[in-house]
Amino acid sequence: MQNKIIVTGGCGYIGSHTVIELIENNYNVVIIDDLSNSSEETLERILKITGTKPTFANVDLKDEMATKAVFKKHKDAKAIINFAAHKAVGESVKNPLMYYNNNLCSLINVLSAQIENNIEGFIFSSSATVYGTPETLPITEKNETQRPSSAYGNSKKIAEEIIDDVIKASNNFQAISLRYFNPIGAHESGLIGELPSGIPNNLMPYITQTAAGIREKLMVFGNDYPTKDGTPIRDYIHVVDLAKAHVLAVKRIINKEQDMPYEIFNLGTGNGFSVLDVINSFEKVTNSKLNYEIVERRPGDVPQLYAATNLAKEKLGWSANKTLDEMVKSSWDWEQKYRKEQSSKESGSAF
Ligand code: UD1
Repeated sequence: MQNKIIVTGGCGYIGSHTVIELIENNYNVVIIDDLSNSSEETLERILKITGTKPTFANVDLKDEMATKAVFKKHKDAKAIINFAAHKAVGESVKNPLMYYNNNLCSLINVLSAQIENNIEGFIFSSSATVYGTPETLPITEKNETQRPSSAYGNSKKIAEEIIDDVIKASNNFQAISLRYFNPIGAHESGLIGELPSGIPNNLMPYITQTAAGIREKLMVFGNDYPTKDGTPIRDYIHVVDLAKAHVLAVKRIINKEQDMPYEIFNLGTGNGFSVLDVINSFEKVTNSKLNYEIVERRPGDVPQLYAATNLAKEKLGWSANKTLDEMVKSSWDWEQKYRKEQSSKESGSAF
């Protein structure tokens, strides 16, 4: 019998890529999503890619009764992967209560429903933002966490602390937090990828939208950081590599292979690339020039973030293997395919 996994936020960017990897590894997936920043069409795309349409429940996880009802229906699930969250950093600074309300109330309802139904495994979608401005690099899981500068980031840090407390109060509940560095790229089918609503906050979609003519030019936020070329360094990781790590985390939880009831893993490549490295890679793989301008620093940006990857390698048997050029090309292929599809829809031809 296939093991059932509940995936909250499974229609979103990282969620949908993870659902595909789960289905391809023979899991029975139930997606819970309120479609607040995604579309039900993702289910059709998952069907096209995998031949399986996951079970879907349109539930707002802030609604405690509805959350408990859907969990009761799927109480035979072996684990939950909790992606559902708002994620726009700038919006969270302007409207912190919306972020704390959404990201933390939904987490609390999911954890309560999970415990009520004796589902033992929980995987949390966390972020390297919990490290704040690290004092040592590469960042290991032992680095102290710091208060992130945004309510979004802080909601991830508080969520990890809530999970830790819940684990300590329970005998049979296990959790893994996965701290993502900078996910980019898209599924090789070109059928799913990142679709930021409105103006992108993140570098990669801003680059691809600029090249696609949707944005006029990329603003590079500062070139006076203490790095090799003055622009900040990040650890960009392909979303499919990231998705595969979730499948390994699910296996580790279900097979009770954990060293401790609550484990934390960094998910990055271990390689740091500057903003100019990413631009140069984009210009190389597309053989074109990108319109960009150096402007003021963006408040809250840290100079350098890249992961120590040994723990995930040793314990999950996972490592990311795509190069920067491959990741950048993957993002560009998705942008182009998506735009082409949109324009053929507008001109009336079928997708
Ligand atoms: C951001 C969030 C982080 C979140 C992650 C994934 C902040 C401070 N951090 O990480 O909490 O988990 O996204 O969603 O917002 N850049 C430009 N021009 C742009 C956009 C970005 O120069 O238009 C630069 C940034 O200054 C940064 C790098 O590109 O140096 C990466 O930025 P971004 O993609 O937004 O990711 P992070 O800021 O690392």
